[in-house]
Amino acid sequence: MKLFIPGPTQVAPEILQEMARPAIGHRTEECARVWKECRSGLRQLMGTQEEILMITGPASAMMEASIRNTVATRSLHLVCGAFSKRWFDIASACGKEAHALEVPLGQGFQGAQVREALQSGIDKGEPFDAITLVHNETSTGVTSPLEEVGAVLREFPDTLFLVDTVSSMAGMEVQVDAWGIDVCLFGIQKAMALPAGLAIASVSAAVLERAESVPNRGWFLDFIKLRDRNLKEQSPTTPSTAHLYALAAQLKRIFQEGLEARWERHAAMAQQTREWARGHGWGPFPEEPFLSNTVSCLARGEGPDFAPALEILKSQGLLVSNGYGELKGKTFRIGHMGEHTSTDLEDLFRHFDNALEAKVTEA
Ligand SMILES: Cc1ncc(COP(=O)(O)O)c(C=O)c1O
Repeated sequence: MKLFIPGPTQVAPEILQEMARPAIGHRTEECARVWKECRSGLRQLMGTQEEILMITGPASAMMEASIRNTVATRSLHLVCGAFSKRWFDIASACGKEAHALEVPLGQGFQGAQVREALQSGIDKGEPFDAITLVHNETSTGVTSPLEEVGAVLREFPDTLFLVDTVSSMAGMEVQVDAWGIDVCLFGIQKAMALPAGLAIASVSAAVLERAESVPNRGWFLDFIKLRDRNLKEQSPTTPSTAHLYALAAQLKRIFQEGLEARWERHAAMAQQTREWARGHGWGPFPEEPFLSNTVSCLARGEGPDFAPALEILKSQGLLVSNGYGELKGKTFRIGHMGEHTSTDLEDLFRHFDNALEAKVTEA
């Protein structure tokens, strides 16, 4: 099966080989060496000098960790789809006073809206401990302008800026320190092109300072415990060493390609996908300034029904996603990230066109 869904994505054969290495003890020098190598490569990837935390688990675990460690009372969640809503749900489930600023599906967030929302919290005497933003909302293919929102956050030094880059990291530019991001988290199964299993976050000094005073951080997700173990290049619990080997090797491959070249490859694939889609009468679902470079969410509009073609493609071993939740049938999503190339997309589109044709002929 070839994956063109918005994650998980294709994994290179040599990376799968890395995962087949024999198990090693997690308190050995060898494990510490790989742990350190991963953290150092991740700093370079993310544009940060801050602490890098890693846990074995899904990205959602790091979303929960970021709330437990930074929010004493009140959080604000920028909601524009399923994954940004998840952060609101997590904060509510953790007993925090969670507020949502919601925009219609297909839109993202701009700096001015965020400034207004944060200021209104202060005006009411209820400032927010943290605000969450999903850089690339995978359910709608919406990218919000991270640098612009980060610049606004500098006006609100008491509010920590928590960012989900699950489906953008390594496919789009993210500069953690320059853009003022306090927690930048992601999983590794999207543009990082690794099997799911590690959750990663950079945490600023302000986050660690906050965490010291926030009660009920829990145990597994405690940033302080994770930071303290990092001093020994270790995890408090037993990590998946298969994933650590794979991550270290994949970071090398990413730097070999070059970060800018990688971001440009993703931008070009997004362009290629939109042009192909427009040729069928399918337009991008997101509004113009929010188009994603890693996930194209395409609206049916005046175009033909795509659902039967998705089934034919699946039977041919090519997996493309229908729309998420209420957008099912109205949109479909193509993930063009990680290992994908424009040649892979040409191949997919040829099969897609044939599948559409077959359906028309059949009818
Ligand atoms: C933007 C975004 N955030 C969070 C998640 C959750 O990731 P996980 O399933 O690893 O918890 C996803 C998964 O698709 C996602 O796309």
